[in-house]
Amino acid sequence: MKINNLFNIENKTAVVTGGSRGIGEMIASGFLANGTKVYITARKAPALLEKANELSQKYNAECIALPCDLSTVEGIKSFVKVINEKEGGIDYLINNAGAAWGEPFEDFSEAGWDKVMDLNVKSMFFLTQKMTALLKSNATEENPSRVINIGSIDGLNVPMFPTFSYSASKAAVHHLTRVLAAQLVKENILVNAIAPGPYPSAMLGSAVNSDYSEIEKRNPRKRIGTPEDIAGLVIFLCSRAGAFTVGETITSDGGIVKTTGHNLS
Ligand SMILES: NC(=O)c1ccc[n+]([C@@H]2O[C@H](COP(=O)([O-])OP(=O)(O)OC[C@H]3O[C@@H](n4cnc5c(N)ncnc54)[C@H](OP(=O)(O)O)[C@@H]3O)[C@@H](O)[C@H]2O)c1
Repeated sequence: MKINNLFNIENKTAVVTGGSRGIGEMIASGFLANGTKVYITARKAPALLEKANELSQKYNAECIALPCDLSTVEGIKSFVKVINEKEGGIDYLINNAGAAWGEPFEDFSEAGWDKVMDLNVKSMFFLTQKMTALLKSNATEENPSRVINIGSIDGLNVPMFPTFSYSASKAAVHHLTRVLAAQLVKENILVNAIAPGPYPSAMLGSAVNSDYSEIEKRNPRKRIGTPEDIAGLVIFLCSRAGAFTVGETITSDGGIVKTTGHNLS
């Protein structure tokens, strides 16, 4: 019952997609600070390599950069091949890489639909499918492996911005989480989702010119999310403490969804 046992994630191995910045970097940091080795992925190799070096030094831990494009099944296959050459098993898969697209309803483009749906939903499914053998290798009834899908409060509430494909993709992420959870719980792999509210990142920053002050004012907690908020929730889900939580979508939004019913981010 001690914290050190309940929330222990030492000597584990994680893959965090989209780990070069934003929420993925925050999650990777939480793992590295607490003894989990982390593989981070992103398309832009220089930024990814730099981030892996920075995080390895900051946390005196092993953060390994694996540049790849996960938007196609080909890209997913070659990524999983590389991981297979390096590891006999993986404990935690964090499906975080995602894209957003905003365009007025009348002009909303097919490209904006397909890009978002492909990366946010299709790639999440196929990466999980192709990582299952590695996750299974490390999974036992006592120590199940974990998959955490990063959804969004935009998939729960109607979004403020004209992000039609994004909000539909995130609702799909939440339901896919339940369907995958039902499939994989039999293999001792527990699948859950986190639906973040506003967190500082390139994605949200580009929508508000990196000025989060209005979003902070509107939030019930009067602030946006911090690395501790998201990393703490991920650590809970990955540790012994979260081992009976399956198929859930947990918000991390300062109370937007549950206390206001509106999307204020
Ligand atoms: N920030 C928020 O307020 C917020 C709220 C709710 C949900 N979310 C969700 O949280 C997740 C992370 O978002 P973020 O805000 O941290 O976004 P971000 O700053 O734009 O980071 C996205 C990450 O994904 C990587 N990525 C993008 N396309 C990729 C591809 N095709 N293959 C591999 N990697 C790719 C990016 O690196 P490259 O560009 O180098 O590939 C980057 O590392 C997303 O799923 C997002 O929908 C964010």
